[in-house]
Amino acid sequence: MEIIFRTWCLLLFLSFVAGSKIIRSVDSSPNERILNYIEQHGNYSADPCEDFQNYASGRFADLHTDDGHLFMQDHIWSQYIVKLQRLFDLLKDRVFIDENSVEEKVWRFYNTCLTAPNNTRSLRHYLELASPSKNLTWPQFAPFGTLWPKHQFNWMETAAHLERYGSNIFIKLSIEPNERNLESLVATVRYPLGGNMNDVAQVKDLLISIGVRSGRASLLVNSIIKLNSDLQELIKEDHLRDYSRRDIGRGSDHPVEYDDYDSLDSYRQREVQRVPSIYSYLEMVLDPSVDLNEVLTIIDPNYFDSLKRVIEKYDEEVVASYLMVRFSLFVQDLDGSHLNSSSSDCAATVAGQMELASDLLYKNYYLGQEKLKKYTEEVQQIFEAVFRSLMVRLEENKLHFDDDTISQFQRKLFAMTIRVGKLPNNLNHRRFVTKFYDNLSLDADLDFAKAQLNVLKHRTQRYLDQFKGVVSKDTYLFLPEDKNPEPKLHFPQSVIVLPYAMLQEPFFDPQSHDVFKVSLLGFSLARQVMSILHPIKKTTDTKYIYNGLACLNQTTESKDLQLRLDDVASLGLVYDAYFGDKSEFSQTQPAFTNLPLKKLFFINFAQMFVGDEVYVDFGSFDSDKLRLSEAVKNLPAFGEVFNCPTTALLNPPEKCEIF
Ligand SMILES: *[C@@H]1O[C@H](CO)[C@@H](O)[C@H](O)[C@H]1NC(C)=O
Ligand SMILES: *[C@@H]1O[C@H](CO)[C@@H](O)[C@H](O)[C@H]1NC(C)=O
Ligand SMILES: *[C@@H]1O[C@H](CO)[C@@H](O)[C@H](O)[C@H]1NC(C)=O
Ligand SMILES: *[C@@H]1O[C@H](CO)[C@@H](O)[C@H](O)[C@H]1NC(C)=O
Ligand SMILES: *[C@@H]1O[C@H](CO)[C@@H](O)[C@H](O)[C@H]1NC(C)=O
Ligand SMILES: *[C@@H]1O[C@H](CO)[C@@H](O)[C@H](O)[C@H]1NC(C)=O
Repeated sequence: MEIIFRTWCLLLFLSFVAGSKIIRSVDSSPNERILNYIEQHGNYSADPCEDFQNYASGRFADLHTDDGHLFMQDHIWSQYIVKLQRLFDLLKDRVFIDENSVEEKVWRFYNTCLTAPNNTRSLRHYLELASPSKNLTWPQFAPFGTLWPKHQFNWMETAAHLERYGSNIFIKLSIEPNERNLESLVATVRYPLGGNMNDVAQVKDLLISIGVRSGRASLLVNSIIKLNSDLQELIKEDHLRDYSRRDIGRGSDHPVEYDDYDSLDSYRQREVQRVPSIYSYLEMVLDPSVDLNEVLTIIDPNYFDSLKRVIEKYDEEVVASYLMVRFSLFVQDLDGSHLNSSSSDCAATVAGQMELASDLLYKNYYLGQEKLKKYTEEVQQIFEAVFRSLMVRLEENKLHFDDDTISQFQRKLFAMTIRVGKLPNNLNHRRFVTKFYDNLSLDADLDFAKAQLNVLKHRTQRYLDQFKGVVSKDTYLFLPEDKNPEPKLHFPQSVIVLPYAMLQEPFFDPQSHDVFKVSLLGFSLARQVMSILHPIKKTTDTKYIYNGLACLNQTTESKDLQLRLDDVASLGLVYDAYFGDKSEFSQTQPAFTNLPLKKLFFINFAQMFVGDEVYVDFGSFDSDKLRLSEAVKNLPAFGEVFNCPTTALLNPPEKCEIF
C-alpha cells in the first residue's frame, strides 16, 4: 500500500510540475509556429520546378550548423529528448521507496550515465566486461608473459555472446510467430549491415587505445582489415539482399528491416530447413527452451559454411581481435558511451535503451489518458484517409490485376492497425513495464559500462524470452529497434507503431491544420502501408511493381528503385487523401497564411527531405534531393500547383503511373 501510495504522490507531483513548467510561447498558435519553421528553411528565390528541395528547404543546412541537425527527424528527436531529460531530472529529488519501481531504474541508469567516473567508460573496461566467453579474455588482455589459450576460443560462441548485447556481427537474426502455424516460430537470418572498416588508422588507434603495442597493432590491423574485406565480399555476393529499407530521411546505416511474409514465401523454395551450422549458432543465441520449428534463411543457406571457410583461414587471435574491434565500434556508436556525454546524451541513452520505461514515463507525464486518446484519434483519422485512398486505387484497378490479387491486397490492408507508442494496447502499462524490467538490476555503484551492458543484455533477453511461451499472431511483441523516430510496421501483427518521439512539432501537433498533419504523418504512414504491396516475387501481382519500376528506372539512375516507387506512390496516396473527392479534410484556405493550401501541402511534405547527404556506403540509398524530385515530378498535381512549364525538370510530360 505504502509503495502504491508513494508512486501516486510521485505521479501527482510530476503532473503538477508538468502543468506549471512547460514553456510555450504563449502568443503563437501551432500553425504559426509550424509555418514559421518551414518559412525559415525555404529559399523562395529558387525555382520550385527545377529544384524543389532548394525551394522548400534550401536554408536548412545553414540554419542548423550549430545544432548539427541534418534532418527534420533530428529536430523532433531532440525535442523528445529535451522533454525526457526534463522529466528524468525531476526524478533526482525523489526518494524511492521501491527499488523495483520503473522510476528508480530509470533514474539509476540516467544518473550513472551522468556521474560515473570516466574510467568506467573506457573501451577496455567494456571489453573486460564483455569477454569472448566465460573463462576467456580477449587476446590483448592475456596476463603478461602468458600465452592466450587460443584453443579455448570458439568464434561462433563469441559472436553469439556479443549478439546478446545487440551487436550483430556475422548474422542478423529476427524471430517471429509463424503466421501459418501459430504454434511455431520462424527465425529469419540475414546478413548484418555495417562493418565498414576502411579506415586503417582508426582501427589501429582503437587497438592502441585498449593497450595493444604500436608494432603489434600495425601487424594485427592488416589481418583484421583483410578478414573484414573477405567478409564483405561474402555479403556482396549475396544477390537476395533487397529487403532492407532505409529509415526515411535519416542518414542511418541501420536500415529498418521488415519481412513480408509473401516475399519470404518465395525464399522458402530456396530455404534449407535446419541448416545445421545455422542451427548450432541459433542454439547458442537462444534459450534452449525456445523451440524453433523453422528457420527461414534469407541469406544464402551456404553463407555459414562460406563464413566458416573464411574464418578458418585466419589465426584465432586475428578472429578474436576482429570480433573485439567490431564490438568496440558498436560500443562507440552507442549513445552515452563517450567520455564527453552530456545530460542530453544521457537522456537519449535512456530513451533508446530503456525505451519502454521511457515511454511509460513520457506518457504519464506529457500525455495522460486524455491526450493520448486525442492523439490516437487524430492519427487514426489520417491512417484511415490513406487507407481509403489506397482502397479506391485498388478498386479502380487501372493496372488490371486479377481478382485474387486485389482481394489479397485488400485483406492485408484490412488487417492493418495502428498504435501510438510502443506499449501494448490492452494491458495495464505500469504493471507491464514494471514486469518487463523486473530482472534488470542496476546496482548503485557508478559504473557506466556495466550498467549499459546490463541494460542492453536485458533488452535482448526480454526480446528472446517472449518466444519461450506460446506466441500467436496477436501476442504483443517487444522488438528492440533503432531509436529513429519513424513509424514501423510490425509483421505479422500488421500493426504500425508510431513512436511518441514523432508526436512533436513541427512534425505533428493535433492542434495544427490538417494540411500539416496529413502531408507529413500521412506520407510516413502511407510508406508503411505501401510495404504490404511489396513484390510478391514471381507471381502475377508484381506487374504493377515491374511496370512502375521500369518507368521510374528510365529517368534517373536509382540505387533503390523500390524505395523510389514507395515514395512516388505514397505521395500520390496522401495527396489524394487530402485533395481527392472522398477527402474529409478542410479545403478552405487557412487564414494564417497567404500560401495557397496546395503549395503549403507540398512545401511541408518536402521538410521530410532536407538532407544533403550522398550515400556511398552500401550504395543503396538515393539522396533526399533525388528522392524528393522523383516523388514530385511523377505527380501531375505538382506541376499544376507550381505552374511549371512542361520543359521544367520537375514537370516532365511523361509521368510514371504506379497504380
Ligand atoms: C537559394 O537559391 C539560390 C538560387 O538557386 C542559390 O543560388 C542559393 O545558393 C540558395 N541559397 C541557399 C542558402 O542555399
Ligand atoms: C571456467 O573455469 C572454472 C575454474 O577455473 C572451471 O571450473 C570451469 O569449468 C570453467 N568453465 C568453462 C566453461 O571452461
Ligand atoms: C572526463 O572526460 C571528459 C572528456 O574528456 C573531461 O572533460 C572531464 O573533465 C573528465 N572528467 C574527469 C572527472 O576526469
Ligand atoms: C564527443 O566525443 C566524440 C568522440 O570522441 C566526438 O565525435 C563528439 O563530437 C564529441 N562531442 C562533443 C559535444 O564534444
Ligand atoms: C527473473 O529472475 C527470476 C529470479 O531471479 C528468475 O527465476 C527468472 O527466470 C528470471 N526471468 C527471466 C526472464 O530471466
Ligand atoms: C534499370 O536500368 C538499369 C540500366 O539501364 C538496368 O540494368 C536495370 O536492370 C533496370 N532495372 C529495372 C528494375 O528495370
